[in-house]
Amino acid sequence: MNSQQIINTAKMLVSNDKGLLAMDESNPTCNKRFTKLGIPQTEEARRSYRELIVTAPGLGEFISGAILYDETIRQFKKDGTMFVKVITDAGIIPGIKVDTGAKDLAGHPGEKITEGLDGLRDRLKEYYQMGARFAKWRAVIAVGDCIPSQSCIEANAHALARYASLCQEAGLVPIVEPEVLMDGGHTLEQCSEITEKVLRTVFNQLYTQRVILEGIILKPNMVLPGLTCSKQATVDEVADATVKCLLRAVPASVPGIAFLSGGQTPELASVRLNAMNVKFRSRLPWEMAFSFARAIQQPALEIWQGEESNVLEAQKALYHRAMCNRSARRGEYNSLIERNKT
Ligand code: 13P
Repeated sequence: MNSQQIINTAKMLVSNDKGLLAMDESNPTCNKRFTKLGIPQTEEARRSYRELIVTAPGLGEFISGAILYDETIRQFKKDGTMFVKVITDAGIIPGIKVDTGAKDLAGHPGEKITEGLDGLRDRLKEYYQMGARFAKWRAVIAVGDCIPSQSCIEANAHALARYASLCQEAGLVPIVEPEVLMDGGHTLEQCSEITEKVLRTVFNQLYTQRVILEGIILKPNMVLPGLTCSKQATVDEVADATVKCLLRAVPASVPGIAFLSGGQTPELASVRLNAMNVKFRSRLPWEMAFSFARAIQQPALEIWQGEESNVLEAQKALYHRAMCNRSARRGEYNSLIERNKT
């Protein structure tokens, strides 16, 4: 393992106010999003959509790394150029989702455990050879009556740490993603308490598995009330609760925190990230960045609709959202920037 190389890559992923573009939807997830818009669920449709993303002009101004899926990292542009080369040529670091999905946790109704550790060492070796320099593993923590259980939190944290250690051995920066879901009627305070507990458990496990914290990126949820909670929170309340929780649980040696969007609308995700950076940026030990999938891609996907004639407009929408989130990282995002779509 070359620790310095991993540490440098982690730093690069969160430097220059850039962030990550998650385009690593599994085939079933991608198909689900296509179905809603009447786009065919074929390998060629998924390839065309990913070509639209990786060839969007100027994306590298705001995006430091792109997370790919196993199918995508092996795909090519129509002209035969590998996506990995297109991305790298745009100044973007290629990454890869390596978990194999969240499955039911035995004995724990309503809870999930993320799988994918078997054979991971060999898969990481192959992905490194293909050009990937970082990886992603997502654990999902559902909130509800008597859940999450301690056993669910511990099992997922342990898997995340085993994954992270294997990544660093292979020369890849692990993106460590423990996601406390937004679904449910829980309050902001409950989300904060659970997120803190999850993060503390994850960092304990990372320490136990000898993961170099300077060579990871944390990808957490923002602290939010559940979608059906009767008391929704203001932007400032979300920013305060999120930063307070992270300060309690995330060591200062971690170079960056790149939030997932988790189903927030694209604008809300930008507004909330911006508020955190406006209020706290100068006082925090880590960079506060983004690693959004839906909150960057959704407008572009809706414009594209599977039609070649919509590609340019869709690429503009993608560029715009990436630019808005770079502004949010700087604490400079506002409604004028949001409306200026040219
Ligand atoms: P969302 O931003 O759509 O939540 O996706 C982030 C991600 O990578 C989920 O694993």
